[in-house]
Amino acid sequence: MPKVSIILTSYNKPVFVGKAIQGILNQTFKDFELLLMDDNSNEETHTVIKPFLQDSRIKYYRSNIKDISERLKKNRYAALINEALDKTEGAYISYATDDNIYHPQRLEKMVTFLDLYPEVSIVYSASQTTYLNENGTVLKVITRPAKKVNWNAPCTIDHCSIMHRGNILPIIFQKWGSYWDENPEFYYIGDARFFWRLNHFWPFCPLNEILDDNYITSLSLHYELFSDKKDTFASQLPPQRTCAELRSHLKKLRKSEIHKLFEESERSVP
Ligand code: TYD
Ligand code: MG
Repeated sequence: MPKVSIILTSYNKPVFVGKAIQGILNQTFKDFELLLMDDNSNEETHTVIKPFLQDSRIKYYRSNIKDISERLKKNRYAALINEALDKTEGAYISYATDDNIYHPQRLEKMVTFLDLYPEVSIVYSASQTTYLNENGTVLKVITRPAKKVNWNAPCTIDHCSIMHRGNILPIIFQKWGSYWDENPEFYYIGDARFFWRLNHFWPFCPLNEILDDNYITSLSLHYELFSDKKDTFASQLPPQRTCAELRSHLKKLRKSEIHKLFEESERSVP
C-alpha cells in the first residue's frame, strides 16, 4: 500500500494540467498513488493527460458529466474528491489541482513532518498564488505564510497546501455524512468549507516553507472575481457562501470551547 494518496481534480486546463501531473511524478518521495479525477474535460486536455497514464502510480477516473446544468448541481471538485477518498489506500492524504505545481520536496517534507509528530493530524505549508491574465502576463502574486497552529484555516490556507492523516476521515463522515461538502453554494470556497469541518476537531500545524506554486488563470473560477471576464458558468451558480461566515462561526466555537475548558479547570482546582 502506498504511504500517500494524492487526489488531483482536473477540468479543462490543457496548458497547466501536464505541469501539475509532472510536478507530482517528479517528487523526491516516491511512495504515493495519484488519483487523477478528470471531470470529463475537452479533448485538448485529454490529449495532454493521456501519455501520463502509462505510469503505474496513476489511477485515472473520468466522469461522464456532460452539460452545464449537471455541473451546477454539486460542487464538482468536492464530488470528485469524495469519490476518490473512498478509493484511497494511503495513510496520508494530499490534494492537488490542475493549476498547481508541487515543488519536488513537497511530499518528502510533509511526510517527514507527520512521521515525526504522531499527535499532529494535519500539516500545512506556506503558499504562493500567481494571478495570470489571458496572455499569461503576471497580474499579481500573493503569499500566505504558515507560521501558527491554525484553528481557523478557512481562506487562510490553500487547497493544495495541506496533508492530513487518512484515519481522520471516518470522524468527518460520521458528523456530516460526507467528507467534502458538495453543496454548490460553496463552489468558490469548497476547500475552506472542508477546512471548516476539519477545524471542528483538529488544528492545522505549520511547515513554514512554500512547497507548491498555485496559479489563477483565465480558466479558473476565481478569475472572474478580479477581471472583467463574465463567466456564463459562474453567473448561473447559486449565491455563494462566504469566508466571513465560516471564519466567524469557528471563532465563536473556539471561544465557547476555551470557555468550557476554563470552567472545567476551575472546577478541578481543590
Ligand atoms: P478552478 O476553475 O481552478 O477554480 P479556482 O479558481 O477555485 O481555482 O476549479 C477548481 C477545481 O475544480 C479544479 O481542480 C477543476 C475542478 N472542476 C471540476 O472538476 N469540474 C467542474 O465542472 C469545474 C468547474 C471545476
Ligand atoms: Mg484553480
